[in-house]
Amino acid sequence: MKVPFLDLSLQHRALREPALAALTATYDANRFCLGKDVEDFERNFGAALGYPRVLGMNSGTAPLHVACMVAGLKPGDEVITTPFTFISSAWGISYTGARPVFADIEEGTFNLDPARLESALTPRTKAIIVVHLFGQPARMDEIMDFAVRHNLFVIEDCAQAVGAKYRGTPVGLLGDAGTFSFYPTKNLGGCGEGGAFTSRREEIQSQARQIRVHGSDRRYYHDIIGGNFRMDGFQGALLNVKLPFLAAWTARRQAIAARYRAGIKLADLRLPAQPDYGQSVYHQFTLLHPRRDALREHLAKHEVGSDLIYPVPLHLQQCYAGLNYGEGSFPVAERAGRTCLSLPIFPELTDAQVDQVIATVNSF
Ligand SMILES: Cc1ncc(COP(=O)(O)O)c(C=O)c1O
Repeated sequence: MKVPFLDLSLQHRALREPALAALTATYDANRFCLGKDVEDFERNFGAALGYPRVLGMNSGTAPLHVACMVAGLKPGDEVITTPFTFISSAWGISYTGARPVFADIEEGTFNLDPARLESALTPRTKAIIVVHLFGQPARMDEIMDFAVRHNLFVIEDCAQAVGAKYRGTPVGLLGDAGTFSFYPTKNLGGCGEGGAFTSRREEIQSQARQIRVHGSDRRYYHDIIGGNFRMDGFQGALLNVKLPFLAAWTARRQAIAARYRAGIKLADLRLPAQPDYGQSVYHQFTLLHPRRDALREHLAKHEVGSDLIYPVPLHLQQCYAGLNYGEGSFPVAERAGRTCLSLPIFPELTDAQVDQVIATVNSF
């Protein structure tokens, strides 16, 4: 039996009728940029997941950029973040002319190690971007303690962690700003590009709202520098169709992860950690194995999909060569890059497919 790493067609086939009906209504009403569908989505998303205020945006990169603008970052400023993430987590820093300063991760959660923050701090440090990678919340108590002590603006990149909570608080509400992505492969994926911004602080949200539409509260009056970060109507309409299923999809991801944990028995393999402060929503199920490439080949030979997320940490990417980090700067992140392997995890996977993945891993 073939097990794909990811198959979006199952979900989209199942939702074809309501999705096309919603898109048709938006088309017929000419609601293309923001508008009622996006407003409905912002309200529905906030109500379902516990966010007091939500702004729909046109990607998951957009709210990160906006958050860096709200934080007032400028050339000369430094922002501490993780080297083990999707590149986009750092783009906002670079777009504002500030400098990303990386701090190593913990092996188990793949997230920023609070014990490494101090050594990344300088008088120029203005903010931290925390990423809740693979759906697993980062250690926010320790990170927020550090941030408060040093007066740093905290941005939570929740692109992979929609629905996750840290000690009962939805991720994105612990720091100063929270950002989401609705890229099609995400736990809540649109049909195209999409993202969202949230903040527990009204003054930050209202600044982000203005930045989203060209720095403008009134048409053709631009009080601050902004941009075009608007969500389009089709994404709002489509996400309204999908949102009611998110809780069940998340529960299914968590059940698949539990099945992997119970079934996988392979020497030298490290499963993702399960810290007691907050359960992962399992955007990915990523393990570590010293012979990762051989294991991946073995899976491929038995028609089990897998992926390398992420093979090259940010500090070793060509675009950041100018930051002058080298091999060995962040050993935990680098080891994760060399040994990580992500297994199939999406709601439509059957138990039989999950068992097939387990048996194939165990037979390595
Ligand atoms: C951790 C993380 N941050 C940011 C993003 C950027 O989101 P988008 O691709 O929607 O711009 C993504 C996903 O692509 C991501 O995985």
